[in-house]
Amino acid sequence: MNDTIIQISYLGSAVLFIVGLKMLSSAKTAARGNMIAAFGMLVAIVATLLKQGVLGWEWIVGGVAVGGAIGAVAALRVKMTSMPEMVALLNGSGGLASALVAGAELLAYAGRGEAPVGVVPTAIVLSTLIGGVTLTGSLIAFLKLAEKMPGQPITYPGQQVVNALIAVGILALGVMVATSPLELDPFWALAGAALLLGILLVIPIGGADMPVVISLLNSYSGLAACATGFVLNNSGLVISGSLVGASGIILTKIMCDAMNRSIGNVLFGAFGAAPEGGAGGGGQDQGAVKGYTPDDAAVIFSNARSCIIVPGYGMAVAQAQHAVRELADLLEEKGITTRFAIHPVAGRMPGHMNVLLAEADVSYDKLIEMDHINPEFPETDVALVLGANDVVNPSARSDESSPIYGMPILDVDRAQHVFVIKRSMNPGFAGIQNPLFFNENTMMVFGDAKGTVLALVDAVREY
Ligand code: TAP
Repeated sequence: MNDTIIQISYLGSAVLFIVGLKMLSSAKTAARGNMIAAFGMLVAIVATLLKQGVLGWEWIVGGVAVGGAIGAVAALRVKMTSMPEMVALLNGSGGLASALVAGAELLAYAGRGEAPVGVVPTAIVLSTLIGGVTLTGSLIAFLKLAEKMPGQPITYPGQQVVNALIAVGILALGVMVATSPLELDPFWALAGAALLLGILLVIPIGGADMPVVISLLNSYSGLAACATGFVLNNSGLVISGSLVGASGIILTKIMCDAMNRSIGNVLFGAFGAAPEGGAGGGGQDQGAVKGYTPDDAAVIFSNARSCIIVPGYGMAVAQAQHAVRELADLLEEKGITTRFAIHPVAGRMPGHMNVLLAEADVSYDKLIEMDHINPEFPETDVALVLGANDVVNPSARSDESSPIYGMPILDVDRAQHVFVIKRSMNPGFAGIQNPLFFNENTMMVFGDAKGTVLALVDAVREY
């Protein structure tokens, strides 16, 4: 009877995970979906602890209270821009937990002098390997994102050969552990090599590519948990681990597609290294740009009927989302239809712009996805590019030699007038110059996104 209840609890939690994941795919339902999936996880944890009969209720409640309090404080304190760092630490913890559980099971078998059978030895190897790589890979990703180590790719001659040799060594150790699980030395060597591989795989990847790596490591943490589910013969863990593994890999693919890069290019391309020939400032000479003030911009706005605002990474850096909401409200008050164009990889994490604009209470109906808004630019009086660069770079459409050639972009250059707010002529993430800035209909308003938008609000109000 007890076992039936536990199996039903696992089934229930799997359903809650799937419903939660489905709801996460829309900004409107994402917060509720997250709560539903978290509740599913609570059900699965309690069922597991009861199934194993290892702990009494007081320990379960105590553990949930302590872990929940740490998680709640961390989640409340973390800044939205530091979210990828927090996710990196959470993935690392997942990998660590899986590897520890697999290792503890192996030691328990060894203590009893009884060799694990069936899929268990292989699952122990996979859980230790994937969990170890996830732990140290996530820690390096965290350090790079938090700028506690250089974000530039760290490369050296023969790097791929060294990594390949370690991978071959791991394969040999894995076979030894799986075939003679009670010999513990190969197991410790396997764990050490997995930790080393995690470091070596992530150091050559540039800091700005870390969100893609984190999404991939998220998938790994799920696969490690899934393997641990086989170690413990726990269907709840197998299901939840597979869901995390699959959704992480799907998100990685979506992010790579939106950047028009292959996963291989992200992992082995050392993208984000300093461009050859000096600082990534200018690129080739493309003519003069036209610098304008917020007052000049207000004149154009006063004659406009429609405006599309294109936020990018600079809006996140400047925390300009509240100021831009104020501007959008003011423009609407003046009878100018105003919407936001959302590029799938604007910013540095999936949904970055949606989250920031939601925080500033911009209505979801005002946020329009790239495919829907692009046909509207030619009919639009003003496109206001706020701290965006690569996602509005027309060379992605036309310049086959450009590193971002083929990446889908927002067609702001097709609007009647284009204002670009940024601090300088510095390039964005891809390190390349943007011909948009030199177009006839483009007006640059140099300055910090927040201060400039607030000055624009004053100017439009007074005009
Ligand atoms: P970027 O191309 O990175 O350009 C951001 C621009 O913001 C910079 O040119 C910078 O110019 C400006 N900026 C920075 N701080 C500012 C501030 N305080 N005030 C005003 N402007 C400021 O951004 P994007 O257009 O959003 O494109 C995102 C890029 O990141 C894409 O290449 C994408 O592939 C990549 N990427 C995205 C993700 C995800 S999941 N979103 C993950 C990894 C990589 P100044 O310095 O001159 O101000």
